[in-house]
Amino acid sequence: NKTAQIAVLAGDYIGPEIMAAGLKVLQAVSEEGRFEYKIHEEPFGGAAIDQAGDPLPQQTLETCQQSDAILLAAIGGPKWDQAPKRPEAGLLEIRKALNLFANIRPTAISSAMQQYSPIKNEKPVDFVIVRELTSGIYFGTPREKHADYALDTMRYTKEEVQRITHIAFQMAQKRRHHVTLVDKANVLATSKFWREIVGEIARDYPDVTYDTSYVDAASMKIISAPDQFDVILTENLFGDILSDESAEITGSLGTIPSMSQGSDGPALYEPIHGSAPDIAGKGIADPISMVKSVAMMLANTFDRQDLATEITDAINETISKQIMTPDLGGHANTDEVTQAIINSIQESRRA
Ligand code: NAD
Ligand code: IPM
Ligand code: MN
Repeated sequence: NKTAQIAVLAGDYIGPEIMAAGLKVLQAVSEEGRFEYKIHEEPFGGAAIDQAGDPLPQQTLETCQQSDAILLAAIGGPKWDQAPKRPEAGLLEIRKALNLFANIRPTAISSAMQQYSPIKNEKPVDFVIVRELTSGIYFGTPREKHADYALDTMRYTKEEVQRITHIAFQMAQKRRHHVTLVDKANVLATSKFWREIVGEIARDYPDVTYDTSYVDAASMKIISAPDQFDVILTENLFGDILSDESAEITGSLGTIPSMSQGSDGPALYEPIHGSAPDIAGKGIADPISMVKSVAMMLANTFDRQDLATEITDAINETISKQIMTPDLGGHANTDEVTQAIINSIQESRRA
């Protein structure tokens, strides 16, 4: 087995705090030759603007392209809100450059987390959002801002819709065999276009049931009946909004990881949340989203479900002991939660 090459982009505000936590857990789970890896840290986002004048320096992109996987914490924040090229532009650029068109964002309420969910729900909640990530209104042109008007363009090609649709249906085949397309087909041309294409592809997956929901109603159902969803397939902007909402019903936005992948090349793993400038520097950021991103990387890029399971079991045990950061109502800090996860991994290995 060759050494895994992992690009590490810590980014801004709480980014470096949670990345440090994620790397400590990676090290702990890899001990005694279980997993051989080398990390390659590069500046990205606001940190890269400060160092190199660009949120995505050429060197950072090259390191990512040459790696087997990329770990990203979070970028952006008030310091660079007026920059000619913001940190967020670097994030969109790396997604596009690596063709990371499929963004997988899981929402599951584990039994350890049940009591921290803000919704009353007895049934198990476990769904994933498959968000299109490299097109739609985030990338469409023209994009113009004038004194009297501004405009953005939501544009999708047939091929862009087809490839993400296959990802969603294949994912459903490994889960509970259900796909829900979320759109605004009662208004938007792009949504009508998606419905035609997705409806046709759905016939190629007879073992997967398929339905559709308007995005406004879907945002209601995520609160009132989240157990009904298995795979939510949706375009870029709707996926952005619905994934933060979905994250919050698990107890905290600070616990949800994601994977972004293309047809080949390295996948990128990152929390779905941002750089949380409001709590940066206090040492209280929830590290779980980053630690779970590490687990997702081990399972998906490196085929090490064994190590990923060790990590998620340790997270659940830590939560069961009520060692949690304030976002989950706890009193522990980032380091204490991280150390508790590591202790749990080490204890279960000795057992
Ligand atoms: P945010 O996701 O950073 O924060 C929203 C709220 O959630 C805040 O109250 C924050 O404290 C809390 N939160 C988020 N992560 C947390 C964690 N791990 N532990 C505890 N609490 C956590 O959203 P925002 O404040 O709107 O954005 C801040 C910056 O992050 C902006 O510049 C935005 O563009 C950027 N952003 C970056 C990414 C990314 O890097 N992928 C994603 C989203 C937003
Ligand atoms: C996310 C973020 C990004 C997005 C921003 C920072 C560009 O909100 O990863 O969810 O909108 O995709
Ligand atoms: Mn977002």
